[in-house]
Amino acid sequence: MIGCGTPNAAAPEKSAASPAVTPPPAKVAPPTVAAASQPEPKPEPKPQPEPEPPPEPEPVTDEAPALDIEYVPTPGNVVKKMLEVATITKSDVVYDLGCGDGRLVIAAAKQYGARGIGFDLDPERIAEAKANVEKAGVGHLVTIEQKNIFEVDLSPASVVTLYLLPSINVRLIPQLQKLAAGSRIISHDFDMQGVDPDDVWTLVAKHHRPPPATRKHYVYKWTAPIVVSPADE
Ligand SMILES: C[S@@+](CC[C@H](N)C(=O)[O-])C[C@H]1O[C@@H](n2cnc3c(N)ncnc32)[C@H](O)[C@@H]1O
Repeated sequence: MIGCGTPNAAAPEKSAASPAVTPPPAKVAPPTVAAASQPEPKPEPKPQPEPEPPPEPEPVTDEAPALDIEYVPTPGNVVKKMLEVATITKSDVVYDLGCGDGRLVIAAAKQYGARGIGFDLDPERIAEAKANVEKAGVGHLVTIEQKNIFEVDLSPASVVTLYLLPSINVRLIPQLQKLAAGSRIISHDFDMQGVDPDDVWTLVAKHHRPPPATRKHYVYKWTAPIVVSPADE
C-alpha cells in the first residue's frame, strides 16, 4: 500500500551518474491548409457511469394498521372488577394487551399505585391513551407503546389484562406461559380454550352498541403457570 510516508514504487529513480543528454528536436509536421482551417478536435467525452436510480418513495397511506380486533372499551365497573380480582398492589407491573384508550393501566396506577404498560397498534388509540395518561397524572407509572401484542415479551409483567377474542387468547398462550409463577391473567368476556380459569365473575354493564342498554359481562382469572389440558395441546 502506498501511504503518506511510503515511497512511490512507480516513480523512476534519478541516477546521479548518468551524463546529461540533450534530446533531439522533435519533428513537427508542417500544418496543412485543411488542418489550419479546421477547429481543434474536441476531446471525446469520457463515458459517465450510469447514475443510481433514486430510492422508491415510501407509499403514502392513510390506511389503519391491520388490527386483530376492533376497539371496544371495557365499561368502568368491569375495569374495577378486573383490577379487584387481580389483587393488584403497588409492586405489580400490569400489561394491557390492546390497551385502547389506556383505561386499565391508568386505573391500576391511580387506584393501586401499580406500574403499567399499555400496548396497542392503532395510532389513534396510542395518541388517545398517551393523552389520558398525561391527564390522569400517572406518567411516572404508566407508559403506552405502539406494538403488536404478539411481539410483546410478557415476562416482566405480573398482571396481564385482556379484552380481545377467545381465539386471540389462545394464540397468546405461548407468550403467557413466560409469566412468572403467581402472575395473574384477567380477561374481559373471553375464555382461553384448553386452560381452565381459577374463577369467573358475571356482572351487568353497558352494552357498547345499544340496544340493549346493558348486557352480562364476564371476568376470567388464571394464575401462572397456566397449564394447557392435553386434549387441547
Ligand atoms: C376490544 S379493545 C380493548 C381496549 C382496552 N383493553 C379495554 O379493555 O378498554 C382491543 C384493542 O386491541 C387493539 N389491537 C387489535 N389488534 C392488535 C394487535 N395485533 N396488537 C396490538 N393491539 C391490537 C385495538 O386497537 C383495540 O384498541
